[in-house]
Amino acid sequence: MGKVRILAVESSCDETAAAVVEDGKNVLSNVIYSQIDLHTLYGGVVPEIASRAHIEKIDPVITSALFEAGCTLSDIDAVAVTFGPGLVGPLLVGVAEAKAIAFASDLPLIGVNHIYGHICANFIEHADLKPPFMTLVVSGGHTHLVNITDYGEYEVIARTRDDAAGEAFDKVARAIGLGYPGGPKIDEASKRGNPDAIVFPKAKVGDSEFDFSFSGLKSAVLNYLNHAEMKNETVDPDDLAASFQKAVVDVLTDHSTLAMRKYGVRDFALAGGVASNRALRASLADACAAEGVGFYVPSPVYCTDNAAMIGVAAYTDYVKGNFADLALNAVPNLSL
Ligand code: KG4
Ligand code: ZN
Repeated sequence: MGKVRILAVESSCDETAAAVVEDGKNVLSNVIYSQIDLHTLYGGVVPEIASRAHIEKIDPVITSALFEAGCTLSDIDAVAVTFGPGLVGPLLVGVAEAKAIAFASDLPLIGVNHIYGHICANFIEHADLKPPFMTLVVSGGHTHLVNITDYGEYEVIARTRDDAAGEAFDKVARAIGLGYPGGPKIDEASKRGNPDAIVFPKAKVGDSEFDFSFSGLKSAVLNYLNHAEMKNETVDPDDLAASFQKAVVDVLTDHSTLAMRKYGVRDFALAGGVASNRALRASLADACAAEGVGFYVPSPVYCTDNAAMIGVAAYTDYVKGNFADLALNAVPNLSL
């Protein structure tokens, strides 16, 4: 097989993205149009506004991705697209676009699971990372511990029972007036705050060793704020941000460490939007070093939503001949 070039499209939430990826690892282009400015006014992603913005931007973003890669569609071997999980309107824009390009250019079509895409972001910069390894995917919608047994093969070990880690960041940021998007704002505020100022509970899920729960922590933060207000006490938002962040990072690190021990893993890879959090990266790097486990995490640009990771994930399907047909549809609640 010569060099395989995949044009990948990602539109599951509030980033319109396209990339050209060669042989499942070389990123020839990675274009991301972020809609953050459009949603900031509303304090979160408004699905209808997101869909409309995807429709406006998807053509120029794909044109830029091909141009930056020095390609035309005749140099492309397959079209890959995120078909779930995500917001149905935004997903449909990408899926319809990818199907149209595949049909018009007579190219195979590959449907990619967004969460698996996040995990595959680790292959872009870490040529030495090979299955089997354990991964923690932490994003705005998902928190999973997963054993990657082979390319495209995996076993979910644990998941969140309620809010995703990123969702907790976003909700707490809103509560303390930091606004949207919450994760990066809390990360920033935490640099100035004292992580030991407030002790928040570390939630345990009774019947599971490794599952996560973040809704109790979110309520604890809200209760803390309400009590302070009733007693007319001022709360330092930086201390609160740092203490909340520490609670999340500690739980993610503790469960990951216990799971690494139980499964005797050789390597551990962090992934998803929350993987760009400085404290989480540092904490898991330390934990892995202490356990003698190899630690991997993508650069922040490949942690948050992008299409390069979708092009990487699609390569395994390309090699195996796992192609979708033109009946491919968006699956908003697609699971890993
Ligand atoms: O993976 P992603 O871009 O989209 C989803 O698939 O959900 O993740 C977005 C999530 C948001 O909840 C955002 O607040 C969070 O990742 N996030 C962060 C940071 N950057 C993004 N959370 C904590 N610290 C960060 N630096
Ligand atoms: Zn994502």
